[in-house]
Amino acid sequence: MVSLRFLLFFLFVSSVYATIVSHDGRAITIDGHRRVLLSGSIHYPRSTPEMWPNLIKKGKEGGLDAIETYVFWNAHEPTRRQYDFSGKLDLIRFLKTIQDEGLYGVLRIGPYACAEWNYGGFPVWLHNMPGMVFRTTNKAFMDEMQNFTTMIVDMVKKENLFASQGGPIILAQIENEYGNVMGPYGESGKEYIKWCANMAQSLDVGVPWIMCQRNDAPRPMLNTCNGFYCDNFVPNNPNTPKIWTENWTGWFKQWGGKNPHRTTEDVAFSYHGGTNFDRTAGGPYITTSYDYDAPLDEYDKFKKFLFLLTWENLLGNLNQPKYGHLKQLHDVLHSMERALTYGNISTIDFGNYASATIYKTEKGSSCFFGNGNENSDATISFQGESYVVPAWSVTILPDCKNEAYNTAKITTQTSMMVKKSNEAENIPSTLKWSWRLENMDNFLLKGKGESTQTQLFDQKVVTNDQSDYLWYMTTVKFKKRDLFLGKSMSLRINSTAHVLHVFVNGKHIGNQHAENGKFNYVFEKDVKFKSGRNVIALLSITVGLANYGAFFENKPAGITGPIFITGINGDETIVKDLSAHKWSYKTGLNGFENQLFRTESMFKWSVESVPFNRTMTWYKATFKSPFGNDPVVVDLMGLGKEVLIMLKNVSPIVENPHKDERDNTLVLFEEMGGNPSLVNFQTTRVGSVCANVYEKTIIELSCDRKSIFVIKFASFGNPYGNCGSFEKGSCESSNNAVDILTQKCIGKEKCSIEISKEKFGAPDCGGAPRRLAVEAIC
Ligand SMILES: *[C@@H]1O[C@H](CO)[C@@H](O)[C@H](O)[C@H]1NC(C)=O
Ligand SMILES: *[C@@H]1O[C@H](CO)[C@@H](O)[C@H](O)[C@H]1NC(C)=O
Ligand SMILES: *[C@@H]1O[C@H](CO)[C@@H](O)[C@H](O)[C@H]1NC(C)=O
Ligand SMILES: *[C@@H]1O[C@H](CO)[C@@H](O)[C@H](O)[C@H]1NC(C)=O
Ligand SMILES: *[C@@H]1O[C@H](CO)[C@@H](O)[C@H](O)[C@H]1NC(C)=O
Repeated sequence: MVSLRFLLFFLFVSSVYATIVSHDGRAITIDGHRRVLLSGSIHYPRSTPEMWPNLIKKGKEGGLDAIETYVFWNAHEPTRRQYDFSGKLDLIRFLKTIQDEGLYGVLRIGPYACAEWNYGGFPVWLHNMPGMVFRTTNKAFMDEMQNFTTMIVDMVKKENLFASQGGPIILAQIENEYGNVMGPYGESGKEYIKWCANMAQSLDVGVPWIMCQRNDAPRPMLNTCNGFYCDNFVPNNPNTPKIWTENWTGWFKQWGGKNPHRTTEDVAFSYHGGTNFDRTAGGPYITTSYDYDAPLDEYDKFKKFLFLLTWENLLGNLNQPKYGHLKQLHDVLHSMERALTYGNISTIDFGNYASATIYKTEKGSSCFFGNGNENSDATISFQGESYVVPAWSVTILPDCKNEAYNTAKITTQTSMMVKKSNEAENIPSTLKWSWRLENMDNFLLKGKGESTQTQLFDQKVVTNDQSDYLWYMTTVKFKKRDLFLGKSMSLRINSTAHVLHVFVNGKHIGNQHAENGKFNYVFEKDVKFKSGRNVIALLSITVGLANYGAFFENKPAGITGPIFITGINGDETIVKDLSAHKWSYKTGLNGFENQLFRTESMFKWSVESVPFNRTMTWYKATFKSPFGNDPVVVDLMGLGKEVLIMLKNVSPIVENPHKDERDNTLVLFEEMGGNPSLVNFQTTRVGSVCANVYEKTIIELSCDRKSIFVIKFASFGNPYGNCGSFEKGSCESSNNAVDILTQKCIGKEKCSIEISKEKFGAPDCGGAPRRLAVEAIC
């Protein structure tokens, strides 16, 4: 009893222990100490809560100090004042997971989220409020933005998650990348940003607020930089440190003087990309994959147009060598924290884009040698030693003597992922499909929707983005005596529908979508009308709403016309403008409304003659959970544009595969027409690992929980080529590198080898540095 009380007391005391986060012109300070803080971004709704601990842990192991995330307004408030913080949207749980891993958090409330997210994170109901203009001094907008921001801050405060309350959040962000778009907003834009600053400040979170891409961020907002080239970035306040909220390589560049090439070029702002679940992708036409080539992968890159649900216990695979190369960099930078944040800075210019930057403290110095020449290596002489800095790279010497890291010298393995079908014997190579057609009779034949207007509306206005689908329907009457009946007339539709399907009298006459980043296009087709009543039904489908640029909220989606029918009637040209006709509207499709994908639904599915190339068709199949721990992907080969729904009865990864053999259900809705017989399941895993490293380094090969099976290639000298296609060069050691590696690595999950001349020999490569290239099969 006594000890329990003591423990509770202890917990109480430690949980209210506040962290003081501040800054000076040099760095963010935590409890008075300047810090080098490396932050990675993980957007919580792009993975599932089950994945969060692992993703965050891998980030920590990769050398991160902090995890940052946007907050996605339209996901949390899909209908005005109706909130959702469940499942993937459990922001508090996400922040607590960060806290549990002992990392800091950066809360980018925005609420504008520039992350290829549907409509930039704004709810469409907001757009539909009277007199609304986003992101400027518009009363209605400011009221709603303040309401949401305040609510988020209150929620986070209630859980004591700000550092000032003993929580993990060290920085909060208001607005986002406004500087990139503010021109067109003129003076109001400037006013607005001041208002944002004051509003944020009034919320009293006890940690600094940041505003990225705002050159005139009002104090005390910290202006930060997004983008690769942050070297010219100077905060607007001498008391603001340089902070890169995205592309943190900028930190690096500042210290190194030169832009580190490839290694950082690929470092997008995402640490974990993830998957756009449900209808969250921005657009138009951004796919559901948000892999971003980030250090932790989504597990695979789908370049196709598809909607995908992943298994809940999917692990982020390590995207090598990026993850490992960055981890090394993070570790080196952390080892130099004191010099970087307190040292006196001086630079030496050696000419030809070569330079040294020195951080000097009483206890010693740290150096960066930069070579900004893209074509030739530089030799830098420094304190009696000479250093080769490869073209377009930076070398880091934490003690100004020994090279600890060079951006161009990747000493981490490259992992090549392979996808395997049928790896587990229980995955059938072909699925047995049943099917049914989407029921559209009411629309195609009757033209009957839910509301009627004599105007063509933007899709957002009608649907509030509650669905991707909107029907626009009208009827046209022709008299028997019209001469053109039986001949073709032209139906011409000016459209901004992301995807448009056109039906006349129940018949699908075509579909179209915009090309190459354009918003509008003209659909034109010859049609034969009948005498009497003709029904024109247009199905407009959104594929992610626009999410970037000034006034992006007004970028059109849907069918705003004009719509014409043109024909020749004897000597006369008939032009019928349908734009102001009576249009009947209907949001959504029957199949989704009736949830016919639910297994318990009463709808009949046919197993006979499964159709191919049929628009608006539902397909359903059942399958067993794959065995094993490898991530599972479903390959939607053969399909056009479709919605995929996966219903699970059991967790897909089962400890004992024989324990639970119930079926899972896969339902597809195919809009364009496709061939579901090609759809298949695959597992992904590391298939082979490669390295291509210089002498005097240690390389670790790891097959990620599988054993190294065979050394396919190894050569020490000047081998060339890439992973999968290495070739021996003109010089090679007589020591057999394959034998050395075989002895050391075969049958092991990982092995580590020092690349030294003692081990691998000393072939004469004409003075050029020697390298070991190796490819091992897992
Ligand atoms: C948001 O607005 C609603 C009224 O629509 C109000 O009841 C609520 O208190 C406001 N929330 C905040 C945090 O201001
Ligand atoms: C990072 O910098 C590179 C190079 O300038 C740029 O291409 C990329 O778009 C930047 N990424 C982000 C997220 O700013
Ligand atoms: C750094 O610069 C300051 C001001 O010039 C000087 O007082 C200090 O001694 C310097 N420190 C070192 C380690 O050189
Ligand atoms: C309809 O599209 C055509 C072709 O792109 C274009 O010339 C015309 O201006 C458009 N009409 C309207 C009103 O947008
Ligand atoms: C589907 O249509 C395409 C193009 O019209 C055609 O090439 C293909 O053979 C068809 N596939 C099937 C399975 O009918």
